[in-house]
Amino acid sequence: MSNKKKVNPYTTDGKVVTYSSEGDINNLLGKIIGDKFIKYREIWDKANRMELVTKFPLFLHLDMNQECNYKCPHCIIGTLSEVKENYSGNYLDFKNFKKIIDEGSEHNCPSMEPQGNNEPFLIKNLNEYIYYAHKKGFIDIMLNNNGSALTKKRAQQILDSGLTRLRFSLDAFSPETYSKVRVGSIPLKRVLKNIFTFLELKEKGNYKLPVVGVSFCEMSHNEHELDQFIEFWTGKVDMISIQRYMPPVPGKKKYDKYYSTKQLNEEPITDFKCVQPFQRVMIKNDKITPCCVSFNKDLILGSIHDTTIFDAWNSEKMNKIRQMHKDGKFYLDKTCNDCVNIIYPNHKIQIPNQIN
Ligand SMILES: C[S@@+](CC[C@H](N)C(=O)[O-])C[C@H]1O[C@@H](n2cnc3c(N)ncnc32)[C@H](O)[C@@H]1O
Ligand code: SF4
Ligand code: SF4
Repeated sequence: MSNKKKVNPYTTDGKVVTYSSEGDINNLLGKIIGDKFIKYREIWDKANRMELVTKFPLFLHLDMNQECNYKCPHCIIGTLSEVKENYSGNYLDFKNFKKIIDEGSEHNCPSMEPQGNNEPFLIKNLNEYIYYAHKKGFIDIMLNNNGSALTKKRAQQILDSGLTRLRFSLDAFSPETYSKVRVGSIPLKRVLKNIFTFLELKEKGNYKLPVVGVSFCEMSHNEHELDQFIEFWTGKVDMISIQRYMPPVPGKKKYDKYYSTKQLNEEPITDFKCVQPFQRVMIKNDKITPCCVSFNKDLILGSIHDTTIFDAWNSEKMNKIRQMHKDGKFYLDKTCNDCVNIIYPNHKIQIPNQIN
């Protein structure tokens, strides 16, 4: 992102606000990748407006394991008992990863992310997973990471893997705040070194991809550093993402203290329609689910061992979830109702009495 260009924030889902000199980072990706990317984003936008239900998900989000070297208290990974309660099944190995990618490839699925609630760089051959999806025709492959395990050698592997978007989650400007928000972390200065090494290798090697971003989940204990964070990173990376905090599970008081002042004082929303079931499936270990929410076990559509992604996407259960959101009736499902309640703590949607 150049300092000279005007930087406007934009959001596609209301949960993440992105600052990029391109207006929308997808404009830059369209220029780099070309027509096939532009066409995929047109379909994506239509699906996001709920004007279209594609035959197969546009995005395969793979939560392959729940292993992390950090214990961020705002993340489900920070509390082992929560992970045990909300996850089941075996971790996804390369064989099952390939099975999923092969099915996606048969249906020309355009985008995927090989990371969920984990640290993806703890998977030693992560670049091979990405390269496999790239070779199988996925146009847009993205990844978040905490920046702790991206050594120079692995940075080079990633540059050669076909990854299109790489985001470093930092959540802080100062080392003090970083160690409070990212509990169990290595020092911030070592993470910054890894990021700048990656950026240098990218520049020296003349790589256009991946576009690189940093992210900041705005919460009560880091919100005072948001402006400094944006100022510091503007001009250094392609995008800066500000994420809305969402308690990892509902009904636990210990997570309420992280709501940012802004989130607690914002104008209440008066309607809500979730776009995720129109875009994606998230595969958590071997379970196929309609969204990225960590406590969505009641929404599981099946296991990759006994159904296809195609059948799960076109199942009666998934169609009902989509229709419910299209009708603006998220409150008909307990998980969706909990989800909206915790992400918008002061929403004002009138819920009819007949809800179970
Ligand atoms: C779960 S992490 C997994 C990838 C990697 N370990 C990382 O930290 O980027 C993916 C993203 O989710 C964000 N995240 C974690 N818990 C969150 C929460 N409760 N609300 C909003 N975002 C959250 C993280 O800050 C990170 O940007
Ligand atoms: S580094 Fe990422 S996955 Fe690990 S605890 Fe923090 S937010 Fe969660
Ligand atoms: S729980 Fe429901 S509202 Fe929340 S992301 Fe999933 S589908 Fe959307």
